[in-house]
Amino acid sequence: MRLANGRAEGAVRLVDSWHLDEERRTGRTSTVGFATRVGGPIAQLWSMARRRFRNPANTSVMWWNDRLLALYEGGAPTAIDPDTLEAQGTTDLAGALDSPFSAHPSTAPDGTTYNFGVSLSRVATLRLYRLGERAECVRSFVLRGHPLVHDFVVTDHYAIFFVSPLRMNGPSVLVGWKTPLEALEWRPEEGTDVYVVPLDSSAPIACFSTDPFYQWHFANAYEEGRTIVVDFVRYDDFTTNDFLSALFERRAPEAPADGALVRRAIDLDTGAMTEATLFSRSCEFPRIDPADAGRPHRYVYLAAHSTRERAFGGFDELVRVDVETGRAEPYALGHADFVSEPVYANGYLLAYVYDDRARRTHLAILDADRPHRPPVARCGFDQPLPPTFHGFWRDAVVTR
Ligand SMILES: [Fe+2]
Repeated sequence: MRLANGRAEGAVRLVDSWHLDEERRTGRTSTVGFATRVGGPIAQLWSMARRRFRNPANTSVMWWNDRLLALYEGGAPTAIDPDTLEAQGTTDLAGALDSPFSAHPSTAPDGTTYNFGVSLSRVATLRLYRLGERAECVRSFVLRGHPLVHDFVVTDHYAIFFVSPLRMNGPSVLVGWKTPLEALEWRPEEGTDVYVVPLDSSAPIACFSTDPFYQWHFANAYEEGRTIVVDFVRYDDFTTNDFLSALFERRAPEAPADGALVRRAIDLDTGAMTEATLFSRSCEFPRIDPADAGRPHRYVYLAAHSTRERAFGGFDELVRVDVETGRAEPYALGHADFVSEPVYANGYLLAYVYDDRARRTHLAILDADRPHRPPVARCGFDQPLPPTFHGFWRDAVVTR
């Protein structure tokens, strides 16, 4: 969606990956995905052996060095033409990438952007990349087992990773028996590993083991002396994925979504941690004003479920949580059947809202500081859009 001179222009395009093109031509699935089977175990094994992995570039986008990149944590970024939304193929960022590239880049207070990728081969290796004028790998370390690492967060001096006890049974994937999703095992007895990775690559990496929990997304983190404060949406286990699977397969989930916004304080000297709940109702997609990244923030913006009954479906509410007072205020969105991640843009919140009765999606523009006010504008598509994971806003995109 482009907003300029009092007008909104919208366009939608699926990322034209080589495998989508192939599927359109042949009418069948022939690439292995995170949750996608090719056919029986033999066909799956054959696809695995030929390394025919899907990269739907469907998780988020970023703008880096005048390039629009669509991101997927299981593969390389896909370059997108910002004018036509045409996919221009995947890129290894001029040879810098030696792993997949996560969909969650994070920017340090000094303005430097980082991202990471986890390669799953004999061992799981996490690589941290600094995205300056050029991309470069600045740290690399081996993780315990074959975990799933979705997001991370950067402070002045550290990159923080929470690695949950979610382990992939590699052999069952390699022989075509299971998809990566089916091969994930929750092992609470192993606890969550908290990695504190100094951005100064000469300093040693610390790893603290703590109670088992799962997290998709961080809101923010910052340093307070020798303590790191981290706000994130926490789950007790990985049943959040059953909820998401049901939602995207249009089945009724067995249990409601149950993420909660929490604050964890990590003592860098002892590894001791405390945790407090900031917002207990089901929520996800925490965002802040990007000007506060890596610094203390006052507000966290979230997509949420207004009631427990609603927590069996899409998010129907946007909420602002004041982390100082604990006060949570819903935005006056009006009727909403599926609300996307709220993106903070120059004092506004941007979110896609799907209305099931009208079967249409619109972009709601809200005054971030006045939750009780109805949207400043609603920019409607004349069609429904598929639910999205993440959004990104850029001021004054210069088209080429
Ligand atoms: Fe995500």
